[in-house]
Amino acid sequence: MSTASPQTGGKSEPSTDPLRLVDVDYVEFYVGNAKQAAYFYAQCFGFEIEQVNDLTTGNRETASYLLTQGNIRFVLTTGLTPDSPIQKEVRLYGDGIKDIAFTVDDAVAAYEQALKNGAESAYEPSESSDDNGTVVRSGIKTMGRVVHSFVSRTDQYHLDHYKKNGGAFMPSFDSMQHLAINEYNRNNPVGLFYVDHCVGNVELGKMDHWVKWYEDILGFKLFKHFDDKDISTEYSALMSKVMDSGRELIKIPINEPAEGKHKSQIEEYLDWHNHTPGIQHLALLTKDEIHSVSRLRERGVDFLDIPETYYDIVWDRVGDIREDTDKVKDLRVLVDRDDKGYLLQIFTKPLQDRPTLFFEIICRRGSESFGKGNFKALFESLELEQARRGNL
Ligand SMILES: [Fe+2]
Repeated sequence: MSTASPQTGGKSEPSTDPLRLVDVDYVEFYVGNAKQAAYFYAQCFGFEIEQVNDLTTGNRETASYLLTQGNIRFVLTTGLTPDSPIQKEVRLYGDGIKDIAFTVDDAVAAYEQALKNGAESAYEPSESSDDNGTVVRSGIKTMGRVVHSFVSRTDQYHLDHYKKNGGAFMPSFDSMQHLAINEYNRNNPVGLFYVDHCVGNVELGKMDHWVKWYEDILGFKLFKHFDDKDISTEYSALMSKVMDSGRELIKIPINEPAEGKHKSQIEEYLDWHNHTPGIQHLALLTKDEIHSVSRLRERGVDFLDIPETYYDIVWDRVGDIREDTDKVKDLRVLVDRDDKGYLLQIFTKPLQDRPTLFFEIICRRGSESFGKGNFKALFESLELEQARRGNL
């Protein structure tokens, strides 16, 4: 693994801004059965089940698995006791994303500054230490059930040190590198590199509230691009604004439902997410869409169906691209172009029984946008799926 974050492009330097975000430290999922979820993401998406923190490491409350690929770190967590607050959330929302955690220089200073900026606390700073160093975590509440943790690390727990040398991710995590699935995944890489963007769904009329929240609390900027204006067609039936952390770290588009011909996909999400905002999809970046999607299809990942007719008109719309266009069509990959270049993207079906969280696999060839030209094709296809579930 490289020492330089693909997102930040290099080592961190000391900063006077306590809310300077260094990296996406991890994305935490709350799930009903973390052991089985770990195998799903390892088998289908090629993640290494790298470390565990559970009964075997002395944790009698929760079980967490650290899954890694490129600069992506997922923590899958379940509660072990009947009164576990994690299991309560799983009952309300099903499996899904709880926390988009950011590495900062000082998790106490970041937390205090965020609270000064108007954030609500999710949990106060807490420190864990052992012979390898110290990890401090704190958290603020963002939309609905979602939290942003701040994580600061010292010594061997410093993220650059961990990426370069391995070792425990945090105190109480033990290695699982002996697993056969890890050996298989090392020999058959899928090639996912980092979290390109992370999309939140909020209630009707709340998009601008959360746009302002990301501006005021974390200093994000509205991403100036043609995608940042409202999009609402009879098919898309949603509005979206893209928030940008800066420093090429992460973008967070925020969706709200809009009136359309049919029930908005955002409304369907909220209906099945206890009428509570949450994370709709994570876009995972690959440098080779054809390779990654071929491997993912071989592994049995279920992607949204795209009608064959999409490919009758796409090349007129996007022009020439430096890809095997037959393979693009065979794999049902979507293509879009903006003034800076083109992108390739594909969307999975929901990753759990409730129609909530899904992944996007994205490859950027210059394009900095989100596939606006595909919205109509995508939403026609999403609506087909919605109709199959009887939710249209
Ligand atoms: Fe996306």
